[in-house]
Amino acid sequence: MITEYAVMTEDHIDEDAIRRAGEILKKGGLVAFPTETVYGLGGDALNPESSKKIYAAKGRPSDNPLIVHICRLEDTEKIAREIPDVYYKLAEAFWPGPMTMILNKSDLVPNETTGGLGTVAIRFPSNKIAHALIEAEGGFIAAPSANRSGRPSPTVAQYCREDLDGRVEMIIDGGQVGIGLESSIIDLTDGAPTILRPGYITKEMFEKVLGHVEVDHTIIDPKSHQVPKAPGMKYRHYAPKGDLKIVEGPRDKVAAYINSQVAAAETAGEKTGVICTEETKNLYHADCVKSAGTRTDEESIAHELFHVLREFDDENCTVMFSESFEGTGICMAIMNRLMKAAGQQVIRL
Ligand code: TXA
Ligand code: MG
Repeated sequence: MITEYAVMTEDHIDEDAIRRAGEILKKGGLVAFPTETVYGLGGDALNPESSKKIYAAKGRPSDNPLIVHICRLEDTEKIAREIPDVYYKLAEAFWPGPMTMILNKSDLVPNETTGGLGTVAIRFPSNKIAHALIEAEGGFIAAPSANRSGRPSPTVAQYCREDLDGRVEMIIDGGQVGIGLESSIIDLTDGAPTILRPGYITKEMFEKVLGHVEVDHTIIDPKSHQVPKAPGMKYRHYAPKGDLKIVEGPRDKVAAYINSQVAAAETAGEKTGVICTEETKNLYHADCVKSAGTRTDEESIAHELFHVLREFDDENCTVMFSESFEGTGICMAIMNRLMKAAGQQVIRL
């Protein structure tokens, strides 16, 4: 398959290309497109064959359900049943935007799209290109992140190209995404609203609207043997090809420890990398020292994290260390992704 590329911005949408992309989706083909969180790999959410193609293109296990992207709130009624009031409360507060809600599904949504579950994940993205594409498709695009399974989610179209060229009909290049981490997922089907995946919409933000919300046990305790309610959360996502460990503790101790480990690894012939911040980047000696952003603006770290992990792969780093970003707000999402990338390896000093 030859993949077509269309370049546009949110301010200058190429309407012809969007129309072509809509046609591809209606015929059961696949289109990668930008959203405000990460790039998505889109197919017709109501067509079981499209969902099967998404799993095949990603190399993803088919028990891992897809998110259905909508562009009109009222379309919810077509794909979901027993919609609670909290759904509309949260939609009002955070949509269009980086939040996904889980509801009971209607018969219109095929089991292939929901990985066999009786529930459906719904998201109304704010990116204008995504919005135009969903409208052109007819309203329901199933889209996981547009990476091959196990790779970090793509934050620029170039990463979609690396993972999906020749596997999808079209890739829409809409530049760099705004947020850089996938949407927050909140389950509304099972008692108290429960965060299944932390993201840009933080626990604190949800609680301002709803009062108390629960957090899935496996997020708070990543070593827990319970099965996460979002099936995708059980996989070791975002893993760089080399070995990554997180080092937690006082700043100077962390730097001294990492430097000594790096020196030993380099003597053993390894190529080394460090994830740090603007505040600490001058403290480290390694082959690739990467500042993910500044601690005074944690969103900058969220924005760069997947990009840095991909760069380590491009530079063939084999042994890597990261500072820890333990904390509240967006830090919960950053640590959730970083812990997965590190296969939960944390050294506490
Ligand atoms: O920001 C995002 O959400 C991006 C962009 C493209 O919208 N999409 C994304 O999709 O991150 P994906 O497929 O990489 O992650 C979807 C997550 C998985 O962990 C999956 O298990 C969970 O959502 N999920 C989907 N449907 C679910 C359901 N019915 N119940 C529980 N978890 C569900
Ligand atoms: Mg993903």
